[in-house]
Amino acid sequence: MDNYQFKIICIVGARPNFMKIAPVIDAFKRLAPEVNVLLLHTGQHYDENMKTQFFQQLGIPEPDIDLEVGSGSHAQQTAEVMKRFEPVVDREHPDAIIVVGDVNSTIACALVAAKKMIPVVHIEAGLRSYDRQMPEEINRVLTDQISDRLYLTERSAAENLSLEGIPAERVFFAGNVMIDTLKKNVKNAQYFSDTLKQFGINTVIEEKNYSLVTMHRPSNVDDQAILKNLLQVILQTSKTLPVIFPVHPRTRGKISEFGLDHLIENKNVHLLPPLGYMQLVGLMAQAKMVMTDSGGIQEETTALGVPCITLRENTERPITVEQGTNTIVGVDAQLILAAFNDVMEHGGKVGQQPELWDGHAAERIVEDLLPWLSAKHAASGNI
Ligand code: UD1
Repeated sequence: MDNYQFKIICIVGARPNFMKIAPVIDAFKRLAPEVNVLLLHTGQHYDENMKTQFFQQLGIPEPDIDLEVGSGSHAQQTAEVMKRFEPVVDREHPDAIIVVGDVNSTIACALVAAKKMIPVVHIEAGLRSYDRQMPEEINRVLTDQISDRLYLTERSAAENLSLEGIPAERVFFAGNVMIDTLKKNVKNAQYFSDTLKQFGINTVIEEKNYSLVTMHRPSNVDDQAILKNLLQVILQTSKTLPVIFPVHPRTRGKISEFGLDHLIENKNVHLLPPLGYMQLVGLMAQAKMVMTDSGGIQEETTALGVPCITLRENTERPITVEQGTNTIVGVDAQLILAAFNDVMEHGGKVGQQPELWDGHAAERIVEDLLPWLSAKHAASGNI
């Protein structure tokens, strides 16, 4: 046992995975350098803007393995990751794989490993929106069912897992690895007006005097009427407070397809391409408010103390509403405008830092995982 070297494959695939895996890799390097940690990128996100600059800005090493799956329908994308990941598992024989979050790459790799009896470790487990129209919800439920060790970002997730019959011994409340990355990097985030200048926008906007808008959920952007309504509301708010809007490739495509460009071509709506991490964190931290349908941004705004108006009917991250700065408003124009006006007039929710969102979640995970893996290894007789 003494000289046994664990091999662990960490999986990333899409933009929100990168900031979650970065502190985990770093914690392994610092606390357990003897562990052979391989990084695998499925290639779900492949654009420079959706991938490369995250690796660079977060100091993530180049992936050891890139499956280069690219885009496709959910079935195609998930299947392609599975087909290409299976030979990697056969070749590498990892002692465990680590998956994060809820994207298609998460469930695809978890499923391959679980069927080969390779332990699956899921970071950010147990979150539930109870909305199966979200593809991520299906990915979450299934990944948790086949995971061997589950790390939670908030305590409410334990209750969700218990209701689904997952034994409490598998579950560990570690805190939020994405907030580890935020705490580490926020001091060095790019100043928002430098980001605007970088993309040729020279309008003078003052700090805390703009709203940041992001949206990409299929339920919001793939439906013409909903997307039109959201863009109209955003345009309306821009008359009071300038809008900065980095546009996800999916959203950009749908705006053109539905002929809605005129709604965002306005002097108060500043469009940007998808941004790197340091640019987006700067824009969030310095905004008066954020309007979004992202999951991660609901948490990041809570950690930053910036009011967040969530353009969804539900959230899988309830602590951001109960303790944080988040308000769930859905897509009704009047409700969005009421929440917007509330922030303008009263400053919005103040909030507090959730438990264990302290910048040390990844260390707690590594410190828990290694003894757990050792015990499993010993029990299997491979001593
Ligand atoms: C995925 C995740 C979502 C996450 C989001 C963050 C799933 C089910 N969804 O959604 O949870 O919040 O990433 O961005 O895994 N595209 C590009 N370049 C890229 C990647 C995608 O142009 O590098 C375009 C393609 O047209 C593609 C579309 O964006 O078809 C959607 O990409 P996909 O990875 O399928 O899902 P996202 O909407 O990005």
